[in-house]
Amino acid sequence: MTLGKASAPAKVILFGEHFVVYGNPAILASISRRITVAAHMTSESKIVIDSDIGAAGEYSSSAFKPIKGGKNAKEILDPLHNAIEQVLAARNEKTGIKVDVFSKVPHGLGLGSSAASCVATVAAVDSLFGKPDRQKVCEQAIESERIVHKNSSGADCYISTFGGLIHYSKLAGFTKIESKSPLSIVIGSTGVRHSTGDLVASVKKFKDRNEVLFDDLAKRARDICMQAVAAIPSGKKEKVGELLSENQALLRQIGVSHEKADDLIDICNKAGALGSKITGAGGGGAVIALAATKQDSAKIGAKIKAQGYESFEVEIDFKGLVV
Ligand code: MEV
Repeated sequence: MTLGKASAPAKVILFGEHFVVYGNPAILASISRRITVAAHMTSESKIVIDSDIGAAGEYSSSAFKPIKGGKNAKEILDPLHNAIEQVLAARNEKTGIKVDVFSKVPHGLGLGSSAASCVATVAAVDSLFGKPDRQKVCEQAIESERIVHKNSSGADCYISTFGGLIHYSKLAGFTKIESKSPLSIVIGSTGVRHSTGDLVASVKKFKDRNEVLFDDLAKRARDICMQAVAAIPSGKKEKVGELLSENQALLRQIGVSHEKADDLIDICNKAGALGSKITGAGGGGAVIALAATKQDSAKIGAKIKAQGYESFEVEIDFKGLVV
C-alpha cells in the first residue's frame, strides 16, 4: 500500500485523572473530535512530519530539522517520530516515511490530542505494511507518548484506540461501561495550554511531600469512581453530576485546578450543569460540565461563550481508532 490513513478520537476524563497514574481507576470517554494521519513511503532516508498543529520537521539519522514551529516543533513531533520508528522496527522495514497530521482537537487542553495523534500515527504507518492490530497500536502509542510524559498511565491512548466509555486502571486494563441514556457534555476552554508532563510531575511533588494526605485523597477518588461506575449505567445523571463536582474538589486539593477553570466551573454550575470539573491534566486546559439534556448543554455552552471563553458540545465516540 502506498497511502496509509487512520484517525483517532480525542477524549475527556470524567473521573480519576492524576490518581490513575498511581494505579487508581479512572473513567474516560472518547469524544466526537478526531485527529487524522496520512502516511506515505518515500525513497529518501528520512522521516518527515507535517501537521496543522503548528509544527513540522524532518528527522534524518537522528538529527532533527524544524520546518514549522521553531524550537517547540521538536517537543511536539518527537512522540510521533518515535511512533514511526517503533512501527518500522517492529515491521523490520527501512523505508523513508512522510506523515501529515490533520487535527480537529485543540492542542494542550487536556483533551488527549497527543495520545490521539500517536495512536493515529502508529496505525497509519503500520497500515502501509499490513493490517494493524489494535492492541499493538495502543501499546506502541503509549510508548511514544512516554517520550514526553514518562509516567503516562496509558489511559489516554487506551480510550483513543478503543473508543466509547471505559473504566480503566493500569493493572486491570479497561472495561466498557454501557450508559442507558446519552451523556450531554459541554467543554469549556480556559485558553491556558499546559504540559501534561509538568503537571504530573507537580502532583508527584505534592504526593511526596504529603503522603498521608495524598493516600486519603486517592482513596476518596477511588470511591467516587466506583460510585460513578454504578451511577452511569443506571442513568442517574444527578448523582454523576454530584460526583464530578466532588472529584473536582480533590483535584483542587492536589493543585491542578486554575483560577480560569474555577471561573468556568462556576459559570457552568450557575447555568444549570449537574456537575463540572477540569478534565485531564488541568493547570488551565479544559473544563467539562454534565448537562441533564441537550437543550441544557446548549444553554450552558451559550453562557460560557457569553463570558468570553470558547465552548463546544460533544458526544461520545464509539468507534475509537479507524483505519
Ligand atoms: C492526562 O490526560 C491524564 C493524567 O492522568 C495523566 C495520565 O493518566 O497519564 C493527568
